[in-house]
Amino acid sequence: MPEPTTSAGAIPSPEADILAALGTRLVVLVGMMGAGKSTIGRRLAARLHLPFLDADTEIEAAAGMSIPEIFEIHGEPHFRDGEARVIARLLESGPAVLATGGGSFMREETRRRVSDKAISLWLKADADIIMRRVKRRADRPLLQTADPAATVGRLIDEREPVYQRADLTIASRDVPHEKIVEECIEALHARLCGPAAPSEAAAGIMGALR
Ligand code: S3P
Repeated sequence: MPEPTTSAGAIPSPEADILAALGTRLVVLVGMMGAGKSTIGRRLAARLHLPFLDADTEIEAAAGMSIPEIFEIHGEPHFRDGEARVIARLLESGPAVLATGGGSFMREETRRRVSDKAISLWLKADADIIMRRVKRRADRPLLQTADPAATVGRLIDEREPVYQRADLTIASRDVPHEKIVEECIEALHARLCGPAAPSEAAAGIMGALR
């Protein structure tokens, strides 16, 4: 028997439902450095057949220099203003999956824009996981401190109450990336498309009882 198709001819799937419900909105990933926003975001975009955008990469392209250079030459306030402008621009290019820099969601104006144009998903990682992941790279200017673990702890305390305002939360942990992506798909589907339709088995039972 041929696969059932929607009116557009696509095979029904959670991904197709999410795409239809998103319209021009983006999926925006927020959370601490090392939470996996880029890694998971890239895979999530592939699953949804959407473009993947990375705010940090776009900021570097717009500035013509690396993030550590922007911090060093112009300072953090200048970086934050540029970051807010770049994210505002990227939010006009939906549908897409957008990974944001860890500090960007702290700005009220950015949160407002994200809630207008996107569904936000917090990838929540604990301090141990973050430390293990960020140790591998020295390109986070905020962690160039005498005690990076204490800095990460302080940033988590400051930021988690704000990240909590994202529409969805998924625990980022050391499991295969595809598992986290699957959880993102399930959470997006539940949020955007409502409760799952009754399974075929349940529908069959209902039919038999009629
Ligand atoms: C920052 C996170 C970084 C980058 C910059 C500042 C932050 O992005 O934007 O170093 O304030 O947490 P990632 O979260 O992608 O590492």
